[in-house]
Amino acid sequence: MKYQDVIPEQAQSTILCTVNFRKDVDTEVVLEAFKGFCERLHPTMNSMKIRFPYDNFKFAMGIGAEAWQRLFPNTKRPKELERFNEINGQTKKAVSTEGDLFFHIRAEKMDVCYEMMLIIHKLLKDVIESVDETHGFRFRDGRAIFGFVDGTENPDMEEVQDVVYIDDENDPYIGGTYVLAQKYIFDLDLWDSLTVEKQELVVGRTKENDLELADDVKPSNAHTEISKAHDKMGEEIKIMRANIAFAEASKNLFGSYFLGYSKDFSTTLQMLQHMFEGKEKDTHDSILDYFNPITGNLFFVPSYEQLDMIANDEIK
Ligand code: HEM
Repeated sequence: MKYQDVIPEQAQSTILCTVNFRKDVDTEVVLEAFKGFCERLHPTMNSMKIRFPYDNFKFAMGIGAEAWQRLFPNTKRPKELERFNEINGQTKKAVSTEGDLFFHIRAEKMDVCYEMMLIIHKLLKDVIESVDETHGFRFRDGRAIFGFVDGTENPDMEEVQDVVYIDDENDPYIGGTYVLAQKYIFDLDLWDSLTVEKQELVVGRTKENDLELADDVKPSNAHTEISKAHDKMGEEIKIMRANIAFAEASKNLFGSYFLGYSKDFSTTLQMLQHMFEGKEKDTHDSILDYFNPITGNLFFVPSYEQLDMIANDEIK
């Protein structure tokens, strides 16, 4: 099984791009262009890795529910692939926005990410329109935009495959994965008005050296406490997360692009519900007082075998 590159190791540069298929172009024409793109993806990955061997180039593409319905009406959708349903939280809304395709492009250098965007442009430009393109960067020593280290409690490399890739033999989409993509705007000035001690209570970890706060200090609405998901037996379940920093400081624009990859979206959804709808006595995750989601999409990320099936009309 050849998986797409969805395990989000940190790279220096990232492009996160969401596009729609154009509604004013015939579906047949869109489908032909997309099939051609899928056919070329695997060789393109090989070529990019030959051309830029030292740049840790990684690429993943996801497909949204509405695009699936339009292009492949005769093939059952991956079972959790639906348009993301907005969550009307107690203080903030997890919005649902448009998106037919999602590109997650990473490399040590931005121009390598751009090379991949050029290929996308060349092959798909007549059938797509942009919804959002965000250029992100690795911040300091692997920190999210608010200055705390991101990814510490992600699954280890040995366990991550079991967390991320669909592994049910009876699922026709075995080897694929789901990704939740949410772009958050960050209120830097409000955050900076807090003392470091107060910020640490919001996150549940220390800022400088990233240690978990002791149980009797960590508030129940701290991000790393309330966001956790559990199975029916009460065991904690994980997903693979990444927060990519982006900013246009002269415009007072700062943000975090959240990605959550998982073999079942229900785990990610449980985390989101805890954050936005609260848990027990808490109304919401206190991180949301400083972050505001402006996009929200769910995509299915096929394996390369499934991309070939699209190219060969076996998914139609
Ligand atoms: C505003 C965007 C977000 C930022 C800046 C952020 C940042 C962080 C940071 C710094 C940590 C601690 C280090 C780590 O283990 O990664 C963390 C942990 C975590 N985050 Fe987020 N996060 C964001 C959104 C989300 C979302 C949307 C989810 C779920 C859908 C989520 C789920 C989690 C979980 C489950 C943990 C680990 C808790 C633990 O086991 O300690 N986060 N996040």
